[in-house]
Amino acid sequence: MNGFHFLDGTLWADGVRVADVTAAAGTPCYVYSAAIVAARAAALKAALDGVPHGIHYALKANSTLSLLRLIRRLGLEADANSVGEVEVALRAGFIPGQIVFTGVGKTRDELERAVALEVKVINAESAGELDRIDRIARALGTRARVALRVNPEVDARTHPNITTGLKRNKFGVAIDAAAGIAREFAARPGLEFVGLHAHIGSQITTLAPLREAAGRLADLARDLRDAGIRLQHLDVGGGLGIAYEDGSAVVDVADYGRAMIEATRGLDVTLLVEPGRWLMGPAGALIARVVDVKTHPGGRTFVVLDAGMTELLRPALYGAFHRIVPLAPRAASLVSCDVVGPVCESSDTFGVDRPLPAPEVDDLVAVLDTGAYGAVMASNYNRRPLPPEVLVEDGTWRIVRRRQTIDEMLVGEA
Ligand code: LLP
Repeated sequence: MNGFHFLDGTLWADGVRVADVTAAAGTPCYVYSAAIVAARAAALKAALDGVPHGIHYALKANSTLSLLRLIRRLGLEADANSVGEVEVALRAGFIPGQIVFTGVGKTRDELERAVALEVKVINAESAGELDRIDRIARALGTRARVALRVNPEVDARTHPNITTGLKRNKFGVAIDAAAGIAREFAARPGLEFVGLHAHIGSQITTLAPLREAAGRLADLARDLRDAGIRLQHLDVGGGLGIAYEDGSAVVDVADYGRAMIEATRGLDVTLLVEPGRWLMGPAGALIARVVDVKTHPGGRTFVVLDAGMTELLRPALYGAFHRIVPLAPRAASLVSCDVVGPVCESSDTFGVDRPLPAPEVDDLVAVLDTGAYGAVMASNYNRRPLPPEVLVEDGTWRIVRRRQTIDEMLVGEA
């Protein structure tokens, strides 16, 4: 059976017992299911079937090389948010023509590299950036393909820290100013003005804002067409949310596809999407070991793990909820636990008041839906080495990034 599931009282991933993985790889450790990524990629492709489209996986969600190679084998392309991500995408085998390059603060060096590589498109964030790209392209004797990132003034109704499509957010140009900017820069000799881009936020769980943003982008594309500027694509960004809690409502991917197709119908453009979390989030689990259990008199029971905010920052940063399940649930009565990490901060808490079957030291737990924005946001805070990452594929598992050593952590220090 594929994906994460329980059988014989223990957690499995794609036909592999997760405890067998951690017995060899140690904890903490990220485990990914290739089958889940493949199934989700297929579902998204099916949802966009019928119109010309490109699925550009947002590397920022997880850019471990082996996962990127898997994404590429599945026929997806890449969305990079820094030249670092562009270089990693190239090393994973993507060609420049498969990479869209976004980013709110691209440096001159980054722009020069992207122009020289001739990436598929640079999503420009401002008139100033378009001007810089134009100059760089002319100096290199080329034309850069650019799209304008528009801030459509649509509230994604998600966590404020990951909302990006409102006037008060730093991203893109105001939609009212976009047509003027497009007209000015479409005439620049160093630019080929090929598209519009919007990304209104992440972990979006209702269709309306996504539909509205795509609709506004399409209206703008129609205005530009009337002004004689024909676009090749509309990039509606990422943002599709996942169900972190059992049974919580999310957007059905087929409905999402239909809405995006509907919003851009009749424009004769390729539809681009940039999903990160939706593809990768449910495909990963962070496996940790209980290192201490203590109950303060008359107070709370703390279950201390060997993983914390250094391996999964989302709960500390956004108050994000992740399910926490014992790898081999005991036949014990449920105890309300605060599941915490080993880092010297009270925000280093994965879950409060979680009912768990009386955990004991050395038990293993899985923190679910950590395939996206888990490993990529890990840090060496408290000088904790980065954990290994394991990919389960076709009933076998392999370490695709080994645990960092102390020497590796110190590389570059004098
Ligand atoms: N495209 C652009 C331009 C983006 O800024 C992002 C995410 C994506 C695509 C992919 O969005 P997704 O499909 O994954 O929602 N660290 C946060 C998420 C930050 C997302 C930033 N931008 C978290 O852990 O929730």
